[in-house]
Amino acid sequence: MSDKPWYQEAVFFELNIRAYRDSNGDGIGDFRGAIDKLDYIRSLGVDCIWVQPMYPSPLKDDGYDVADYTGILPDFGTLDDFRAFLDAAHARGLRVVTDLVMNHCSEEHAWFQAARQDRHSPYRDYFVWSDTPEKYSGARIIFLDVEPSNWTYDEVAGQYFWHRFYASQPDLNYENPAVHEEMLNVLRFWLDMGIDGFRADAVPYLYEREGTNSENLPETHEFLKKVRRLVDEEYPGRVIIAEANQWPEDLLPYFGDGDEFHVCFHFPIMPRLFMALKSGDKTPIIDILARTPPIPPGAQWMTFLRNHDELTLEMVTPEERQWMWEQYAPDPRMRLNMGIRRRLTPLLDNDKRRWLALNALFLSLPGTPILYYGDEIGMGENIWLDDRHGVRTPMQWSAATNAGFSEAEKTYQPVIDDAEYSYRHLNVAAQETDANSYLNWTRYLVAARQAQPALRAGTLAWVETGHAAVLAFRRAEGDNRVLCVFNLSDTARPSGIIPATTQTDLLSRDKRSFPAGEEIHLSPYECLWLLEN
Ligand code: NOJ
Repeated sequence: MSDKPWYQEAVFFELNIRAYRDSNGDGIGDFRGAIDKLDYIRSLGVDCIWVQPMYPSPLKDDGYDVADYTGILPDFGTLDDFRAFLDAAHARGLRVVTDLVMNHCSEEHAWFQAARQDRHSPYRDYFVWSDTPEKYSGARIIFLDVEPSNWTYDEVAGQYFWHRFYASQPDLNYENPAVHEEMLNVLRFWLDMGIDGFRADAVPYLYEREGTNSENLPETHEFLKKVRRLVDEEYPGRVIIAEANQWPEDLLPYFGDGDEFHVCFHFPIMPRLFMALKSGDKTPIIDILARTPPIPPGAQWMTFLRNHDELTLEMVTPEERQWMWEQYAPDPRMRLNMGIRRRLTPLLDNDKRRWLALNALFLSLPGTPILYYGDEIGMGENIWLDDRHGVRTPMQWSAATNAGFSEAEKTYQPVIDDAEYSYRHLNVAAQETDANSYLNWTRYLVAARQAQPALRAGTLAWVETGHAAVLAFRRAEGDNRVLCVFNLSDTARPSGIIPATTQTDLLSRDKRSFPAGEEIHLSPYECLWLLEN
């Protein structure tokens, strides 16, 4: 392998423990169940698992409302079960990062309970209080379908408390140095146990300041640099990843001078991949990458197509948002806040050509990709479930009862059982034996990417094709070069590419080659990864 930091060349896998495998028949996935599925995860060719919140929680935001930062949700098992999961993952060469929710906790956290009950408790100042709901009015509301304000009055406390997300998630007060110490100790607790890093949730909102939008404030960056110092000094080699849904230029400070996050999610590119594919026009992709500044050495972007949240449309213009809703969320139930609560494959109408094109594009653009559990088999969504639960349904392992997820009578959410995406025919077991299945294509694409240093973390240069619908770029690392070509439209067309020497397509399993001197013609949604060396 190369001498690059591991997270620059890895493929990540986002895992919801609740949804994966239930080992004790209570209808809820758990760590013991997930251990049994680690070989499967490894078989996808991924390198690192991101475990979504596994902490004790009333689950009003699916665990992003943490009631105890150093425990495990009893539904998921015990700390020993978590350790066993971590060891079993490491034994298979898989790294593990967990979610770290620093911005807020649950209203049920002992800190908040103490704070609301006693004005003089040292915990009162762990939260942000006010006698009126007027302060910090420049801050937008994120969960705008359900929350009318970022302030909620607490009867017991006799004051309003501040929250950027649900009212059941009071924000912690980072003006208070005691909160810093608490959070740094939370980091130490899990890093001491051997985890490989954190996906740091909702980092732009740690501080609030009058007269600003209370996002990305200098004070926030100062604290985050403190977090990085701790990691560098005490746990070198571990990674911290910023979840900050912001424009590229606003994300740059999250890398600092290489002294803040190692990795930042690149949110704005995601909707543009969907836009380009639907409109048959590569411009949005090229524009957003042109707007993406260079990052410090050792840093990396993280990319995704779908995750456990709605497909966010915060980083597009209002007109583009409207267009995306019309194109991809025709039913109002598919819309939530500023986004679309659907899974990858239904968004693409279960069309394998488009699925392949989008995945091949995503896996060949710069950045460390994350796959979301279930998307590798083309799972569907259940738009009738509330919030974002429709994309968090049980993993479909087989055609057995409850999709082989659980032996319980009732599972935490129903398994998908509609005509097109039912577990009865759409499941891992059925796809294992089908060379052309979504599952085997995922494995093939990930392996093909990981075999080329240029695709893992090489440079990118656009290649002119003369057609808005044909996107081409060259990735290069040393003398390893791959020319990636995509027909984003549903009509066949010439690619504008004439190879100088014979080239082999890494995406075709029979290693189709293209002779020198002849223009390449593309079928609808065809994509090629041409190995040039
Ligand atoms: C981002 C998480 O991805 C989302 O699921 C959660 O609701 C918010 N942060 C609040 O923690």
